[in-house]
Amino acid sequence: MREHNAIVDRLRIDYPAADGEWLFQKARLVNAALIAKIHTVEWTPALLNSPEGRFAMRGNFWGLLGEQYARAYGRLGTGEILSGIPGSPTDHHTAPYAMTEEFTAVYRMHSLLPDEFSFRGHRDGREIAKHDFAAVTGAGVRELYTKVPYEDVLYSLATSHPGALALHNYPQGLRRLHKKDDIFVDVASTDILRDRERGVPRYCAFRRRFGMSVPKSFAELTSNPDWQRDLAAVYKSVEQVDLLVGMHCETLPPGFGFSDTAFRIFILMASRRLKSDRFFTIDFRPEVYTPAGFAWVQDNSLRAVLERHVPQLRPHFANIRNVYFPWDK
Ligand code: HEM
Repeated sequence: MREHNAIVDRLRIDYPAADGEWLFQKARLVNAALIAKIHTVEWTPALLNSPEGRFAMRGNFWGLLGEQYARAYGRLGTGEILSGIPGSPTDHHTAPYAMTEEFTAVYRMHSLLPDEFSFRGHRDGREIAKHDFAAVTGAGVRELYTKVPYEDVLYSLATSHPGALALHNYPQGLRRLHKKDDIFVDVASTDILRDRERGVPRYCAFRRRFGMSVPKSFAELTSNPDWQRDLAAVYKSVEQVDLLVGMHCETLPPGFGFSDTAFRIFILMASRRLKSDRFFTIDFRPEVYTPAGFAWVQDNSLRAVLERHVPQLRPHFANIRNVYFPWDK
């Protein structure tokens, strides 16, 4: 929201006579493209923290020639290999754009959420409040902000680590999520139920269809003997293991925040949500974004957004290579 307003202020300089609706929509377009860029070249490489991950995601956006070439000379031809997807021709790859069922299934990453949240002041690191999940979601949010300033909420979350996407790490708060009155939802069960009722293949079948190796036993799925026993107590054979459960058993590739199975789907969707959208392809140009808006997308990053809106937190992320990594306390 703060970034949106900053973009509006910038556009107003070049277009003083523009009406509010035009300014709103143009700023929204610019902000959406900046978010897509941040997601591609900052967020995803943080989750796939390896030279290959960084190379692949920067290649998605700027191509093999890279950011400096793109900034200096623009695109070289229309292909996405050399100059990246933004600005290349739109392609729906035979089907209209949609988030695929497979993507939804592998993105059930609720275990990233912790059970406890400690809120600390960014100046002295002293704890102001400590809350469980329920107190920081839904109706609890407004209450929280009456006690903890926005900068300190951001500082506290940015200096914390997310939960591992592994077995036995589901947030308790989501296993009994309060909806209203005496209605509670067990999101852990629902995650499994939804994949089953939607016909998403089980773990082994899912990987087989992707041409990936398939474990023949619980022992091949996980080297953890406790987990092998847990799985055997629930499933008759490894073929029955649900997709989400199987992914939570996997040993992750070095630097990866999620499984190789999830990665295969994720990387397709990451490219496609750019390639299928005209505003990231044929209409990613100054004539559509305005010259100032187009430059805004090129010149900014999440780091720049944070520097602009929470400059007092700068010492905490100044030395962090990627601002999605936990900040200095
Ligand atoms: C405040 C935190 C969160 C809450 C309260 C929450 C709650 C829920 C609920 C109630 C559902 C729907 C269950 C149903 O099908 O009936 C759901 C679905 C889902 N959640 Fe979360 N979630 C949270 C955070 C996250 C995070 C951090 C991720 C991923 C990084 C995530 C990914 C998903 C996905 C992919 C679905 C399935 C969506 C679909 O079926 O189309 N959620 N979540």
